[in-house]
Amino acid sequence: MDVALRRKPMSEAEEDLSKIREGRDLSFFDLTSIDQVSLKDLALLYDVARRFRDYRTYKFSFNKGYSQVNAFFEASTRTQASFDLAAKQLSMDTTSVGSTNSSAKKGESFIDTVETLSAYNARAIVIRCSQAGAPEFVARHVAASIINAGDGWHEHPTQALLDALTMLDECASEDLSGRVVVVVGDIKHSRVFGSLVRILKKLNATIRVAAPETFLPDYVEKFGVSTSWSVEEAIEGADVIYALRVQEERGAKGDIPTLREYSKTFGISAKRLALAKPEAILMHPGPVMRDIDVHSALVARHPQSRILRQVENGMALRKALLWLMCDRADGATKSYELL
Ligand code: MLT
Repeated sequence: MDVALRRKPMSEAEEDLSKIREGRDLSFFDLTSIDQVSLKDLALLYDVARRFRDYRTYKFSFNKGYSQVNAFFEASTRTQASFDLAAKQLSMDTTSVGSTNSSAKKGESFIDTVETLSAYNARAIVIRCSQAGAPEFVARHVAASIINAGDGWHEHPTQALLDALTMLDECASEDLSGRVVVVVGDIKHSRVFGSLVRILKKLNATIRVAAPETFLPDYVEKFGVSTSWSVEEAIEGADVIYALRVQEERGAKGDIPTLREYSKTFGISAKRLALAKPEAILMHPGPVMRDIDVHSALVARHPQSRILRQVENGMALRKALLWLMCDRADGATKSYELL
């Protein structure tokens, strides 16, 4: 971080952020799909996220008095930790519930659990669950803003937002026209792909997908991507290689002969990376299965890897999202229908 910036008093830092925001608001009150995010929303999110990234661990008072609940019914390291830290660095109170410690285990319905959390006046509820569409459903019936942190095989919008920020920074451009992004791996079970493909389309990227046939659902074609069973062919001349994890917990192992075979045919090795443009970057949402999706030597420290940069951007992006969603400049509140 720039030293002058680090020494800046908090009031000046907040003023700086507010100046960058210019009284703008997002067009949505809940975030369940990338389909809701307009180009104007993206510009606002990225202006603010880039500035938060400069201030890194500053504790701002923007969301003081608001609470956030992290309701994670599936495992998470990056998403949960960054949402929690982001909220705390905005002075929010946070608490977490999950599959092992919540009453969902006793049979409480999803909507009852979320309504209960909302009744604590939670301003935001971040939900990760195995049921596709569940965050969108509860969003219509509770006062709290719902943020989808991954719903089954469907979407993971904040991952796509941070990924696109990483790509745009790399290209120093406002969109991805003329850039080739190759997504490699378990498309079928990946909610990361569900959101990534939507944001890449918005930003005009050329998208290629490389995967075994069994990992390629028919609907992929509807996004206008080109598909290939040859990772070498797909990577040729690419700007970004985005590897996905084989989602064993969703039955992915039944779609491939063995992990070893998969790694031999689709794993990203130095030799395969060299087929892309010399300045191409390697990305992965994490967790990386070393030597399966990506060769170990390429993971964190390789000069072309942006995997840790993605993690860093995740923090800044989630902070921007929480500030913009919870502390609206126009004072508008979400409308919802009680069930
Ligand atoms: C997810 O929860 O979808 C992750 O961010 C990516 C993964 O688990 O492979």
